[in-house]
Amino acid sequence: MTAPKVFVLSGPNLNRLGTRQPEIYGSDTLVDIHDAVTAEAQRLGLAADCRQTNSEGELIGWLHEAVDDGADVVLNPGAFTHYSYAVRDACAIVTTSGRSLIEVHLSNPAAREEFRHTSVVAGVATGTIAGFGLQSYLLALRALV
Ligand code: DQA
Repeated sequence: MTAPKVFVLSGPNLNRLGTRQPEIYGSDTLVDIHDAVTAEAQRLGLAADCRQTNSEGELIGWLHEAVDDGADVVLNPGAFTHYSYAVRDACAIVTTSGRSLIEVHLSNPAAREEFRHTSVVAGVATGTIAGFGLQSYLLALRALV
C-alpha cells in the first residue's frame, strides 16, 4: 500500500526562518523544519511533500493540487492567515472535499499584535496548532493520523 500523502505548505517569509525575528520564531530554518517533518511523516507512515512560497497564487494552486491528489494538508499561511479570503476559499475547497487541513503557526498569534488575532483560515480548517515552534508542524502530522 502506498503511504497517504500530506502536503506541508508554508507561506510568505517563512523561507527566512533562522534569521527572521528568532526571538519570536526560534532558530530553526525551514530546511530544519522540512527535515524534521519528513522524518516524522515517515515514522507515521505518511509521505510528506514540503513546499514554501511567497506567492498567494502559487499557494492557492498547491491547495487545488492537494485536492486533485487526494492529499491532506498541513498549512502555515504566514500573514495570509489574517487577511486572505482567497487562501481561505482554497482551504475550504480542501476540507469540503473530505480532506483534512491543519492550520499551524510557529508562534502564538493570539498572544501577539491585535491584527494577528484574526485567522480567516481557522473557520474552514479541520483544526489549528499554534505556539510550539517546529513542534507545531510535527503535532499537526500526528493529528492527521
Ligand atoms: C506565523 C504567524 C503570522 O502572524 C506571521 O505573519 C507569520 C508566521 C507563525 O508561524 O507564527 O508569517 O504564521
